Amino acid sequence: MSNDRLFDATLARNNRGNKPPVWFMRQAGRYHTHYQKIRSRYSFVDVCKIPEVACEATLGPIEDFGFDAAILFSDILFPLEALGMSLTFEPGPKFARQIETLSDIANLHGGAETAREKLCFQAKAISLIRQKLPKKTSLIGFVGAPLTLFHFAVLGSHRATAATLDSAFEDGRFTAFSNAIHDCLAEAMAQQARAGAGSVAVFDTCAGDVPHGVYQDIIVPQLARLLQLFKDRCPATPVIYYAKATGPQHWELLRDLPIDCLGIDWHHDLREVLDAFGDRWAIQGNVDPQWLCLSENELRPRLESWFSQLATIPQRKRRGWVCGLGHGILPTTPEANVRLFLRLRDEVFA
Ligand code: CP3
Repeated sequence: MSNDRLFDATLARNNRGNKPPVWFMRQAGRYHTHYQKIRSRYSFVDVCKIPEVACEATLGPIEDFGFDAAILFSDILFPLEALGMSLTFEPGPKFARQIETLSDIANLHGGAETAREKLCFQAKAISLIRQKLPKKTSLIGFVGAPLTLFHFAVLGSHRATAATLDSAFEDGRFTAFSNAIHDCLAEAMAQQARAGAGSVAVFDTCAGDVPHGVYQDIIVPQLARLLQLFKDRCPATPVIYYAKATGPQHWELLRDLPIDCLGIDWHHDLREVLDAFGDRWAIQGNVDPQWLCLSENELRPRLESWFSQLATIPQRKRRGWVCGLGHGILPTTPEANVRLFLRLRDEVFA
């Protein structure tokens, strides 16, 4: 991928201009009329699995709002389906049967071959999107991190209680699960990259839900293993790691991992994060998605002040800043607020 595109340059912490690139998690989603029109014709699963339709969904927010990066329209749970778990969306995801025991985990079948056979719809969509996407716009592929997939597959949702969580980590189920899926995940990432994704995001929406010691001793080593398996395949493709509800104590543990961009939620002062971690990673974030549901009169001054404060940071300190939200855009967001966000970015960082 060419390195002079704004987003790619920023991931390499080499953005020479004044403007930070912008994209939003869930930018092709229910708040957007373009997506709603597609969904009136196709189920969510069909949008994901028919490459031409996934391509159309992915391009909608690029054509309408002019984001600097597109993200493949798909879902983090398809690798689990590929490994044998029967999955439906109603509209939230449901597995016919959760994985409960170590022997259930042993029954997950497949590895890299499974990704090649059963997740090729993602790679096909990526290559169509890349053909149609403006050259200057980057394309992001993605998978779910082992911990977040474990929450859905084993614990049933990402709101497990502390007690169920503790036992799941103490009895070795997480480590067994992660070992069972990481070849499939790494290959899924690699085939997205080979098909034309310029970077791959690893979504760890549940990263902050486990006790710190568990994250340190059990989660991070498995994440490191996955990322290494991917980098063995695609050493030059940047990795974005989104870690919701984490903080500096967590991030210190990630310093030696092959991560290029750290995505953070809205509970942090971005100036401080850029200052403390901006030399190690590009930093992505981090407006509170709720802000975008405010009236324009309330939103405008907040965004103006947020952007203006960031604009006072010397350019060399924010050349790795990927501008966006701290989590996915909410379905109730008015489209006008998305336009306002991009317009103010353009005005403040002209
Ligand atoms: O960002 C994008 O525009 C790309 C598309 C994308 C979706 N899911 C589409 C989707 C991406 C990157 C994801 C990732 C994903 N999926 C995550 C990690 C990031 C995050 O948001 O925390 C997680 C945890 C999932 C699992 C998942 N898929 C849930 C919990 C749900 C239901 C909840 C909800 O938001 O409705 C889904 C369904 C889903 N995935 C929808 C979309 C647009 C809504 C389905 C619909 O159109 O009816």
